[in-house]
Amino acid sequence: MGIQSTSPMIVVANRLPFVVAKDPKTGNYIRKQSAGGLVTAVAPVVVETEGMWVGWSGLHIEDDTFAIPESSPDDNSPTAGLKSEQVIPVNLPRKLFDDYYNGCCNACFWPLFHSMPDRAIFEEDKWDAYREVNEEFAKLVIQAVHKSYKKTPDRIPLVWIHDYHLMYAANYIRDTCNDEGLEVKMAFFLHIPFPSWDIIRLFPWADELLQGILGCDSVGFHLEDYCLNFIDCCHRKLGCRIDRQRMLIEHNKRTVSVHTLPISIPYERFVKMAEEAPVVMKASPEQLLLAVDRLDYTKGLVHRFKAFERLLEKYPEHVEKVNLFQVAVPSRTDVKEYQELKEEIDKLIGQINGRFSTPNWSPIRYIYGCITQAQLAAFYRDASVALVTPLRDGMNLVAKEFVACQTREPGVLVLSPFAGAGVTMQEALMVNPYEINHFADVMHRALTMPKDERELRMKQLRRREKERDVNFWLRNVLKSADCLGDESGESKNR
Ligand code: G6P
Repeated sequence: MGIQSTSPMIVVANRLPFVVAKDPKTGNYIRKQSAGGLVTAVAPVVVETEGMWVGWSGLHIEDDTFAIPESSPDDNSPTAGLKSEQVIPVNLPRKLFDDYYNGCCNACFWPLFHSMPDRAIFEEDKWDAYREVNEEFAKLVIQAVHKSYKKTPDRIPLVWIHDYHLMYAANYIRDTCNDEGLEVKMAFFLHIPFPSWDIIRLFPWADELLQGILGCDSVGFHLEDYCLNFIDCCHRKLGCRIDRQRMLIEHNKRTVSVHTLPISIPYERFVKMAEEAPVVMKASPEQLLLAVDRLDYTKGLVHRFKAFERLLEKYPEHVEKVNLFQVAVPSRTDVKEYQELKEEIDKLIGQINGRFSTPNWSPIRYIYGCITQAQLAAFYRDASVALVTPLRDGMNLVAKEFVACQTREPGVLVLSPFAGAGVTMQEALMVNPYEINHFADVMHRALTMPKDERELRMKQLRRREKERDVNFWLRNVLKSADCLGDESGESKNR
């Protein structure tokens, strides 16, 4: 039996669980699936509870009018059971959406929340667009709540808001529901770090932002540190009464509960993919250091390449024996910082390869693009070392996917303590990505680690991720929102 929620689940996220795109052959709109772990875990609960998903379809008002297509008969993805009426697309004018998404979310909140304030741009018109778009999302949520009550009048829906794109939506939803006499439960989950008060206070409209999140009944973050940062901000910026021990915040005569909810992956799905995936890379040269990231400045690619260069200088025995294989998935390509990073990386790889290549070998292999899930699973399985070394990261699921896929010869995980995953995955080799010289030493240690030590570390890492998979996370989310159903099959409400 799947996870039981006592409430119909209304997910509100910037993106829908699939992209709507035109089929070039037929000209009809089709669903293009997203393979993310969040969708895999959450979509079945939305299906089962007859809930809904509100989000951006990938299109704008100016692009053709369209209806959400039904899933195709051969669709066996986790969203296949989502009927078109359960999917509520947000379609906005391109300029407004761009100011909200690129101008505010990507150019301001993303760097700020990753504690890189020098990169953050604070512009009032972008913040205005953010609030406006959050209200547009909120209006569609109200429609979803009405629909939900029509379908299941005796069940209070859970509105579950996701991530930094939608931190301002909750109060509009709460107030309108109150006015219209609709009872709802509201939860928020942040997928990125929540930084300290010292960083948050740089944002000129921080009060409104914090009040926005406090519009929910329960608020979740990956780590306890992020929870404590949030509680501290509410105390110092808004003067809220707080209880750090029980993680409670009083605001507007309501009590908001704060929860540590570290996200994870569909562990068994990755194991199965790794077991089934054919070999995609020949075992030559002898060892492979693997890195997989969205091309993003928080991921520390430049530091990693420099450390790899240092490895080759300092430990020449690895020349012609080791490859660094970097998969960089294009991301937010409209934002200047991302375009500049791409150029910097192209140049750096060229320099390192130019310096160390021999007639039969180049040190860095680089894919700027997407690879299939089966290829990814094979790379994870066959790599000697995975380098998960972000400068800052909310959780980082690559670290978890790598260990799940380690079904054959055990490899080594090299992990940054500045990723959320670094807090629990203690058997990894930890490295501060800013410390280039030490980073090179750690790579060397990983490449030369004896088999029994690799085995021991990997066994522990795998055991933990198996136990605490994405369903474990989802159950805890529902519990924290007071919506976890009886898994024996009973479902109660009101
Ligand atoms: C992070 C965010 C997600 C976001 C993803 C991809 O993981 O937490 O909310 O969807 O990056 O970024 P994008 O801007 O392409 O949605």
